[in-house]
Amino acid sequence: MRVFRKISELRQFISEQRFLNKSIGFVPTMGALHSGHSELLRVARNQSDIVVCSIFVNPTQFNNQEDLINYPRTTDRDIELLKAVECDALFLPEADEIYKEETRLKFNFGWLESTMEGLHRPGHFNGVAVVVSKLFHIVNPDFAYFGQKDLQQLAIIKQLVKDLSFPVSIISVPTVRESSGLAKSSRNERLSIEGKNIAAHINKSLAQLESQLLSGISFDEYKSESINYLKDKGIEVEYLELVDSETMKAVSNKLNDNSVALCIAAVVEGIRLIDNRIF
Ligand code: PAF
Repeated sequence: MRVFRKISELRQFISEQRFLNKSIGFVPTMGALHSGHSELLRVARNQSDIVVCSIFVNPTQFNNQEDLINYPRTTDRDIELLKAVECDALFLPEADEIYKEETRLKFNFGWLESTMEGLHRPGHFNGVAVVVSKLFHIVNPDFAYFGQKDLQQLAIIKQLVKDLSFPVSIISVPTVRESSGLAKSSRNERLSIEGKNIAAHINKSLAQLESQLLSGISFDEYKSESINYLKDKGIEVEYLELVDSETMKAVSNKLNDNSVALCIAAVVEGIRLIDNRIF
């Protein structure tokens, strides 16, 4: 696997591959790779000639400095995982390679970001949209792979690609879970074993809520029961919403064939986790 730290060197590699008519699949990450990322890379490997992964803990998408400082960084281990899944190239830039100077551009995704993560993490999606745009310009991929765990991010990136006519297909990949149902996340590394057991109740409660909704009970009737159930288990819910899974608009029930998503952000042992169930 080739490792590039400079934009110019990666661009040179990409243009050589383009000259050879190779398709490029891109998996952008912030490192601390786990089997959720392996799945993105596996799908990319099956679909593209050349697989490029980036590891960049993007400072501009953190609205909380402590969260940025504590974000797990496991580069040596990540490189081993990338080699094992036969990734061809890793882009591993320093912050000043990506942000030579402060970015002035501001994105506004309107109602797509006025709820859930957008509401609770001001500036987060602006930071994501800026860095993903930069990475798309650098890597120029045919396909880019994103996990469904970050469902609102996925909707924002699809909008970004449409609005700015990026010539890339966005491929969404289902969430990978522990056997307990806990969604794989780099943040899980910061939970104790006990914390992981507690956090498994997040997905359990979403599954219960899903079956209640499918049996006709309205979301509002059951929402506070779910929040209290999680509170009893030691989980503090930041938000719990039922939304249209494409538009992110709140809905009160699954009334037609449109797919909906139960989305949650919750805190366990001081670690903020997100998850969702699409049905
Ligand atoms: O989902 C992530 O890991 C990040 O938000 C992304 C897309 C790599 C942008 O920094």
